[in-house]
Amino acid sequence: NRTLYFSRHGESEYNVLGKVGGDADLSSRGRQYADCLAEYVNSTLGSIPGFKLWTSCLKRTIQTAKNIKAPQEHMEALNELDTGVCDGLTYEEIAERYPIEFAARDDDKFHYRYPEGESYLDLLLRVQPVLDRLKVEDNVMVIAHQAVLRCLLAALLNKDEKELPYIHTPLHTVMQLSFNRAGGGCHLELIPLSI
Ligand code: G3H
Repeated sequence: NRTLYFSRHGESEYNVLGKVGGDADLSSRGRQYADCLAEYVNSTLGSIPGFKLWTSCLKRTIQTAKNIKAPQEHMEALNELDTGVCDGLTYEEIAERYPIEFAARDDDKFHYRYPEGESYLDLLLRVQPVLDRLKVEDNVMVIAHQAVLRCLLAALLNKDEKELPYIHTPLHTVMQLSFNRAGGGCHLELIPLSI
């Protein structure tokens, strides 16, 4: 069997404020998650030969990975969906300032591209090189962002574009994806860490 691990970054200061985008630091709860995740990984996965960690280049994933003892690679391709002109706004502010855009996104979340930003489709194309690598990797943990993880999980679990932007990716939870080499099936397990 082959196993891949995924986690969102711990709660960030922007998550607390309900803002999208940005490059915020972790909140105090987010830092607690980083400690719990490091303890979990260092005690269970860290001893697996070849275990490694991939994060985005944004502070919140790097801070989440900081205390994990494993080789780390930081990739721009794993950065969060670019929300363009809406960067730094809350969903309420987006609905107020850009009502037509807000409705268009609700109408077709997969294809909707933020002005001066990205769509889920753009993001899926951006993460393709990471997906190509993941398809032959074992024992990698990817610490990234909600939209990015939705793209990776959709591709690995064969979810269609209607489902992709709504895949449930809870905070403070390790998502463990195991592939059965013989049968070709795979199994996703959610492991919430109590902080
Ligand atoms: O803006 C990035 C968020 O993590 C994605 O959430 O696509 O559900 O708005 P959303």
